[in-house]
Amino acid sequence: MSGNLANVPPMTENERRAISAYIENEFGIRMPAIKKTLLEGRLAKRVAACGLPDYGAYFDFVTKDLAGQDEYLHFMDLVSTHETSFFREQRHFDFLSRNVLPALCGDEGRRSISVLCAACSTGEEAYTLGMLIDSSLRERRRNDMSFFVEGLDLSNKAVNIAERGVYLSERIKKIPDELQKRYVMTSKDRTKDLCRFVPELRRNMRFHTGNLLGDLALLQHFYDIVFCRNVLIYFDRSNQHRVIATLLNRMHPDSFLFLGHSETMLSFDFPLRSVAHSVYIKK
Ligand SMILES: C[S@@+](CC[C@H](N)C(=O)[O-])C[C@H]1O[C@@H](n2cnc3c(N)ncnc32)[C@H](O)[C@@H]1O
Repeated sequence: MSGNLANVPPMTENERRAISAYIENEFGIRMPAIKKTLLEGRLAKRVAACGLPDYGAYFDFVTKDLAGQDEYLHFMDLVSTHETSFFREQRHFDFLSRNVLPALCGDEGRRSISVLCAACSTGEEAYTLGMLIDSSLRERRRNDMSFFVEGLDLSNKAVNIAERGVYLSERIKKIPDELQKRYVMTSKDRTKDLCRFVPELRRNMRFHTGNLLGDLALLQHFYDIVFCRNVLIYFDRSNQHRVIATLLNRMHPDSFLFLGHSETMLSFDFPLRSVAHSVYIKK
């Protein structure tokens, strides 16, 4: 079943209200009236692809019809923004390399490092963390220590990309040369401008599809480092509070929380001590 995009009528105000309210309630992502064009633009192709007459029918299909389960994955992917890159907001990775990893990797009694990359999108942030931790352990010859980076995102499509660990060479350029040499393999097929992370790194990476506002039982660990960057900006204050409270429950004392550069927890009363711009230690 597939229809013509030109036949999809404009989104009515009732449809916009219903779809926006659902997205805010389920995923926390604010969808005020001003975002109507964006919402319409993102969903129009799917309405047509499903052969449905309008946005209302599409919304019913994804939320009420068992047959719409697969389409729900597209819906979740389309309502969020997945912009990301390797070494995005570089200052955080500098802080990690200078101030956090020397202490963790140099701790003689420690045997592992656990990291959560919440809202990991297509995985670039998680692999950046993986490369830096692995390098730091190698430098200190800590063969006795292991680590893992767990990535979580609402978008199943983004998580599949992260799991494969295959990226366009263009995106890899942001990774410093010495790290590229150690961790990135280029495709043998020269017509495909693709790179993949080496298996030795990929085996320390795990990715899950999940909702930060939902049941996070799939996260079985307590973490030493949590990255939750550039997602809270889409949430209202009460959902920001809810997400941080959930993450704090999963963090060891003295563990580190990194938020996006434009996100801050200073107005909330959490057991967090600020140690750098949008970097906190759990008290
Ligand atoms: C702009 S990207 C940020 C990616 C990465 N953290 C970074 O800073 O580069 C925001 C990501 O948050 C995810 N997201 C939005 N709402 C979410 C939710 N309720 N639970 C999990 N992930 C969510 C989106 O799917 C998207 O991939």
